[in-house]
Amino acid sequence: MKKTVLITWWTGYIWSHWVVAFEQAWYKTVIVDNLSNSSIKSLDWIEKILGYKPDFYPVDLRDTNSLDEIFKKYDFAWVVHFAWLKAVGESCSKPLEYFDNNIVWSLRLFELMEKYDVKNIIFSSSATVYTSPQPSPLEEREKEQAWISEDFVTGNTTNPYGTTKYLLEQILNDLANFSGFRVMNLRYFNPIWAHMSGYLWEDPFGIPNNLLPYVMKVANGELKQLQVFWWDYDTVDGTGVRDYIDVVDLIDGHLKAWERLITHPPHTSGTSLEKGRKYWIFEVYNLWVGRWVSVLEMVSEAEKVVWKKIDYKIVERRSGDVAEVFCNPSKALEELWWKSETSLEDSLKNSWRFYRGK
Ligand code: UFG
Repeated sequence: MKKTVLITWWTGYIWSHWVVAFEQAWYKTVIVDNLSNSSIKSLDWIEKILGYKPDFYPVDLRDTNSLDEIFKKYDFAWVVHFAWLKAVGESCSKPLEYFDNNIVWSLRLFELMEKYDVKNIIFSSSATVYTSPQPSPLEEREKEQAWISEDFVTGNTTNPYGTTKYLLEQILNDLANFSGFRVMNLRYFNPIWAHMSGYLWEDPFGIPNNLLPYVMKVANGELKQLQVFWWDYDTVDGTGVRDYIDVVDLIDGHLKAWERLITHPPHTSGTSLEKGRKYWIFEVYNLWVGRWVSVLEMVSEAEKVVWKKIDYKIVERRSGDVAEVFCNPSKALEELWWKSETSLEDSLKNSWRFYRGK
């Protein structure tokens, strides 16, 4: 029988890929979303790919009564929690909204997971949890521009969004220790996306917060000009450098993490043992490519794909931004047997296919 997975989403992009990948991998998916930043049309696109619609409930995580009914109805094997506000810059202007949405609402979900004994969770965390720069002795590694690995120090985040992820990691770690949760905590940075089917892509409401959708909307004539947030960072060309990962690879990483979660050997120490719960887990993986791209490099790579000049102007730094993040993907490779394979060119081509065709 198919195992059932509950997917919470907020932004409406990763989940659509996720649903397709999971249904294709023989899992039954159940989705909850309040549709605040995503379109119900995504369900039609999913249907075009799969031939059917997944079970969908237009509720948000504050609505614990409705959520309780959903938990009652299905025998969930696990939960994938994507329901975030997720923009670094926006979080600096609306910190309380971020704390409420990301932390308080998640607690409601965790309570139900505990109530119904559904304690397997894939948590979508972020590289924004890493302290930058790293305190001694890791600062030496930082100076040498070592790639961030999972044992780097976390906390002291540069923006409220990162703080919410950091705090939730702490909460889940405690739930693993004291309440038998099994947590795969996946930290990734800059997902870029478009499904090769041509039906699923990132098309946020309003002005996009993230780089690639903005670049694509300028290329498509929907927006006039890209604003590049600063030129004087200590990077290859002075603009921010990130590791952009294709969402299809990212989802594959989540599937591998799930496989590891269900085959993971039990921990042999910790408070949970005293409580007779042998199978708690809190595992952390970076999901990265190991490929560094500056904002201007992204613009020039996109220009090659769209065959147009992308107009931009350099403006002030965006609040909460860091210059660069380099990540080390080796733990995921060794333990999950997972590696991102999609080229930047292919990601851009898939993305452009959607924007051009809109
Ligand atoms: N940038 C611009 N102009 C824009 C948008 C972005 O110059 O219009 C620059 C940023 O300054 C940064 C780079 O492009 O240097 C990437 O910015 P994004 O907003 O695309 O992404 P961030 O690195 O700020 O943060 C992203 C997502 C979060 C995610 C986080 C870490 O916004 O959702 O990575 O996971 F959680």
